Amino acid sequence: MHFQLTEEHLMIQKAARDFAQNELKPGVIERDEHQKFPAEQIKKLGELGFLGMMVDPKYGGSGLDAISYVLVMEELSKVDASASVVVSVNNSLVCYGLEQYGTEEQKQKYLVPLAKGEVIGAFCLSEPEAGSDATSQHTTAIDMGDHYLLNGTKNWITNGNSASTYLVIAQTDAAKGHKGINAFIVEKGMPGFTVGPKENKLGIRGSDTHSLMFTDVKVPKENRIGEDGFGFKFAMKTLEGGRIGIASQALGIASGAFELAVQYSKERKSFGKPISEHQAIQFKLADMATQIEAARMLCLKAAWLKDQHQPYAQASAMAKLFASEVAMKTTVEAVQVHGGYGYVKEYHVERLMRDAKITQIYEGTSEIQRIVIGREVLK
Ligand code: CAA
Repeated sequence: MHFQLTEEHLMIQKAARDFAQNELKPGVIERDEHQKFPAEQIKKLGELGFLGMMVDPKYGGSGLDAISYVLVMEELSKVDASASVVVSVNNSLVCYGLEQYGTEEQKQKYLVPLAKGEVIGAFCLSEPEAGSDATSQHTTAIDMGDHYLLNGTKNWITNGNSASTYLVIAQTDAAKGHKGINAFIVEKGMPGFTVGPKENKLGIRGSDTHSLMFTDVKVPKENRIGEDGFGFKFAMKTLEGGRIGIASQALGIASGAFELAVQYSKERKSFGKPISEHQAIQFKLADMATQIEAARMLCLKAAWLKDQHQPYAQASAMAKLFASEVAMKTTVEAVQVHGGYGYVKEYHVERLMRDAKITQIYEGTSEIQRIVIGREVLK
């Protein structure tokens, strides 16, 4: 066992850090305020190969490992979680799902442009009445011979309006329960597919979250992913990796807030000295640093297991559970270290605090992570 990143890892980490500072930081407050999707920044991230990071270069990806993905997600999320969620969903939920389980034709047609960042994708599992209870899909896809007829509504879909390719989970045979669920590739512009208004959210306000409505959408048979009835397992397997992405996002939000708190504590004076010299502040910074390091280890461990082709469902759930709690605690403390300044937008920490909350909700709430971990430890 060794805890050292390779030269290549360090280079990728630096590239992401530079991008975050130079391209994401300017304008991040304004995008949050006006709920503006970071379209230009996402385009550049695509050009740099960050949207198909782990995809084989023969399908237009960068061929990097999951450790690199954690490093990139942390750096981007320190500054702009609205941009990093696009990177996470495109890499983990969309590209990974297609590369792992798609046919060669599906990969050529859909994965290549997604991995190159020419278009972005969305993963559509949640419904008005099926968030945590993901087997209770109300969206139906009826087998009509050469196509499926898709009807239903999906909620809180990240990249809902800006995506071109949507992986949609739907019930094809209710009598079969989770074995009657399938995953489909749906294109924006297919007749009957409409996008609802953008959600007005507490955090990650720049990200593009929408409901999607499907009314008699004809989805060609060849757009089903995997064997008939594979859709629920497809969603679960894909989310295992997605949780590494969101855990790393939470880690980045926490470490971003921590770095700001350290910097501020050295500059701000009270009672005749920088507040960093007061033990009350040092204790806070020590707790933050310790928890962040533990979260980082869990993220890297989950990524390492994935890279080694070992089971990682439990590790990714642990990383997400822990890192998202650390993100919440750390950002609240970072605001406290900043005092009144922390409560205003210019100092960034209030945004990070609002952004942190979603990491305890999406890609499975903290309660879902505990279910996944509990089942694994009891096996
Ligand atoms: N890998 C492979 N198969 C799996 C699996 C996994 N990780 N997890 C479950 N399965 C299989 C089970 O083995 C079982 O199959 P068999 O009957 O053949 O054995 C089948 O799937 C059903 O499993 P369960 O009985 O465990 O299902 P459950 O109804 O108890 O639910 C759950 C399990 C873990 C709670 C699951 O519903 C879940 O993860 N829910 C949360 C969903 C979620 O994360 N939603 C987030 C939306 S996506 C998002 O947020 C993206 C975004 O935009 C940012």
